Amino acid sequence: MMAYETLATLKDVLVALLYLTSAIFFIVGIKRLAHPKHAPQGNFLGAMGMLIAFVTAFIDFGITVDVAGETLRFESGYWVVILLAVLLGAVVGVVSAIKVQMTSMPQMVAIFNGFGGLASLLVAGVYYQLSLIEGALETTALIATVFSGLIGAITFTGSFIAFSKLQGLKIIPDKPVTFKGDLAFKLMLLALLLALGVLYVLDPSLALYWGIVMGGFVLGLFLVIGIGGADMPVVIALLNAYSGLAAAATGFVLSNTVLIISGSLVGASGIILSAIMCKAMNRSLTNVLFGGFGGVASSLSDDDVYAGKVKSTSAEEVAMILKGAQRVVIVPGYGMAVARASSAVKQLSDALEADGIQVTFGIHPVAGRMPGHMNVLLAEESIAYEKLLDLDTINPQFSSTDLVLILGANDVVNPLARDPQSPIAGMPILNVDEAGTCVVIKRSLGSGFAGLPNPLFALDNTLMLFSDAKKAVEEMVRAYKEL
Ligand code: TAP
Repeated sequence: MMAYETLATLKDVLVALLYLTSAIFFIVGIKRLAHPKHAPQGNFLGAMGMLIAFVTAFIDFGITVDVAGETLRFESGYWVVILLAVLLGAVVGVVSAIKVQMTSMPQMVAIFNGFGGLASLLVAGVYYQLSLIEGALETTALIATVFSGLIGAITFTGSFIAFSKLQGLKIIPDKPVTFKGDLAFKLMLLALLLALGVLYVLDPSLALYWGIVMGGFVLGLFLVIGIGGADMPVVIALLNAYSGLAAAATGFVLSNTVLIISGSLVGASGIILSAIMCKAMNRSLTNVLFGGFGGVASSLSDDDVYAGKVKSTSAEEVAMILKGAQRVVIVPGYGMAVARASSAVKQLSDALEADGIQVTFGIHPVAGRMPGHMNVLLAEESIAYEKLLDLDTINPQFSSTDLVLILGANDVVNPLARDPQSPIAGMPILNVDEAGTCVVIKRSLGSGFAGLPNPLFALDNTLMLFSDAKKAVEEMVRAYKEL
């Protein structure tokens, strides 16, 4: 008996220590992700943390020490289930990492968030169901079950709607879908679900739990259909935070430290990221929480903005302007990612620097389709991180810049943001129009993510180079070297 007691204690201590080690790997991993130089190491540490968590789950659930019966059993059923789940997850992870394009990352994150929410609500629900056989849950665990079910359900349907919008599946319109009284409806539904949650804690029942989950599914759907346009990235970050909070709540249900810590990390980082993005787009977090903004129609037509005012140029002409420049700023956007033009950009910046021209990059916090999108693409080409300047650093420098090359960027340089009547009023932009000359490289006068015309294209100091970004930059490099 004594030996089995010691074994049981040893197992508990080992499991607790291993879960703690795994959590430390997650925390250090996130810290390392903060700089592109250490980001791969951060990713590796996160993956190692996950591996330690799997192994610990094998020990935690797969080995039972029965002190009274003096037996130590290997629960092969658990081992098989955990192993199958790990293998299935690994296959999905590897295939997604290889197949999914950089530009589709937000959709992938949305799907993963959705499944995270679903997993949390199922685990919490099943644990409660099992507890009906094995003995009642404590009040704290019951409260955590409510949060896990509610937040997990909101995350699940919300994420799938976000995926559908970003992927352009047209199951529901990409633009915000609103109706009279929708805010009141959402608030009433939330209040009703919280009231059901209180009832559940006072007198738990399976019907109440799954009722809260069903209501959460409906609330998640209505929360996200009301949002669209340029506000979608904030929603994705927020849903990411929700999936973390649901996981942390499930951690409280199971008394599992690694779930509580990792869920809180995801929840906190998602909320911080949402706040940073809100600031970058001049939106308030309350607006995001209650939906109903974004994609507001502009009263300006393309004709009002562009008619007779747009001047086009060629790669050869831009190469000549570059030859006479001393300071050049390159502003990349979503189009650079689509055209896979970053390696051509590196060649151009090398050629210019070889002639003593100063080249820096102006990076808007929401350029592209995910946070850090441009930084990642440029860092992959070994462009020094010190040359990638953020909005606050680069903006005061445009007035002393000879030439700005705007490469597949649109919304992040749209001066309409300075017009209080415009749908993107107040969104901080890169003040490229203060430079000597602006060259905009894109295929047409087509709009960006926010669906608005861009008066920058019609300014006196702007030249339009209508082309695919990669082709244009490659031609520019050739022409520049021939001068
Ligand atoms: P956008 O405003 O979306 O504009 C991208 C431009 O790239 C388009 O106008 C398009 O014009 C051009 N383009 C597309 N393919 C091209 C190609 N092969 N070669 C050259 N140009 C090409 O991009 P942005 O300025 O980077 O702004 C980002 C927008 O996305 C913001 O509204 C932001 O809120 C939103 N958003 C951001 C994120 C994050 S977190 N970064 C996530 C989701 C959404 P043509 O069709 O005429 O070529």
